[in-house]
Amino acid sequence: MSKRRRTCVAVIFGGRSVEHDVSIVTGHQIMGAFPADLYEVVPVYISRDGAWFTGDPLLDLDNFANKGLLRLEGVASCLLSPDTRHHGLIVNPLAGRFSKSDVKRIDVAFPALHGTHGEDGSLQGLLELADIPYVGYATLGSALTNDKTMTKMVLRQADVPVLDDFVFSRESWLNHPDQVLEEIQQRLAFPLFIKPATLGSSIGISRAESLPLLRAGIDIAANFDRRIMVEPAIADGIEINCSVIGFGGEYQASTLEQPLSWDDFLSYEDKYLRGDEGMKSAERIIPAPINDELTQRLQQLSLRAFQAVDGRGIARIDFLVRPEQGEIYLNEINTMPGSLALYLWREEGLSPSQLVQRLVDLAREAHAEKRRNMYDYQTNLVSVASQRGIKGSKGAKS
Ligand SMILES: Nc1ncnc2c1ncn2[C@@H]1O[C@H](COP(=O)(O)OP(=O)(O)O)[C@@H](O)[C@H]1O
Ligand SMILES: [Mg+2]
Repeated sequence: MSKRRRTCVAVIFGGRSVEHDVSIVTGHQIMGAFPADLYEVVPVYISRDGAWFTGDPLLDLDNFANKGLLRLEGVASCLLSPDTRHHGLIVNPLAGRFSKSDVKRIDVAFPALHGTHGEDGSLQGLLELADIPYVGYATLGSALTNDKTMTKMVLRQADVPVLDDFVFSRESWLNHPDQVLEEIQQRLAFPLFIKPATLGSSIGISRAESLPLLRAGIDIAANFDRRIMVEPAIADGIEINCSVIGFGGEYQASTLEQPLSWDDFLSYEDKYLRGDEGMKSAERIIPAPINDELTQRLQQLSLRAFQAVDGRGIARIDFLVRPEQGEIYLNEINTMPGSLALYLWREEGLSPSQLVQRLVDLAREAHAEKRRNMYDYQTNLVSVASQRGIKGSKGAKS
């Protein structure tokens, strides 16, 4: 009996980002979720300094605890070719006399990178050039949502509630700090949150109750980004997250979670878990303990926000909420949520295996949709130009 060819999915993880390690874990969760009879998974690991590798040993998370990883037998350098004829990886690209290079064609790419150089549109741009279907947001949506302040500008247009903010450049902070502090205080009141415009995992973020802390917080944020954002801190709020999947006309919002910060975590333990069956899944409460009306409102806003930023594939949409006051603010959109938000989709009856396959299908749909655009537009411009000569160019007949 002839066997159907397996779909070849390249899962790309690691990367030149402060979220490198988180991405290794997410990448392995994704790779482990594909059924082996239907999918061939090709692991692609990008090191901290931006070197690309592939090979079966990269499928084993245990090998990443081992510093000699990149010298392991079976791990080879590779690069993703932008040339549409390759449609995939060039393995061992600088082959010498004793080795040869190879092209590994892939059907779909699955970026599992968090943050810079992965979730920000740069990798997506390379995949567009290569004409390879890929999971997740395209170039524009990735770049946009990677920037917290640009995201807010677009969401305001779409009537999604977000906090006010004030944005300035590192250059203006270094050259005119007093003027920057003055402007912040004219627009916003303490307590404040200071964030690099584009990072993740809470890196470079701080909260300031006073002017000296504001200064210190900006100094920290300025180490991480060229653009810095300051916004009001929400006191006594809770965080609620919702994942969305979809493309084209069909979108679905997940069950909500309340992730717990360390302080919440302790109070949650005091309130609900002490003496009970233990601390098991106390990092988050699923479903979030809020009423149905607020749940639906947050799901609707998530769907609206997802579409406003040209969402495709998956995202986790994070809110700051004050349930009693009915205040909701969308905080950020993560286009490659940690662990793919698998735990939220499980609540919706979607197993990790079903979720990754659904995302691969959506990647193919998005790619097919793009095919409807025309890229080749034939004219006789070149032959006319060659007959007449081009003004100003060498040898032109003017
Ligand atoms: N304006 C705010 N008010 C209160 N808490 C905030 C605010 N902004 C961020 N936080 C807290 O800081 C955390 C990290 O901020 P966030 O914008 O989500 O950055 P990251 O991209 O690093 O996740 C949030 O999860 C939340 O706990
Ligand atoms: Mg966050």
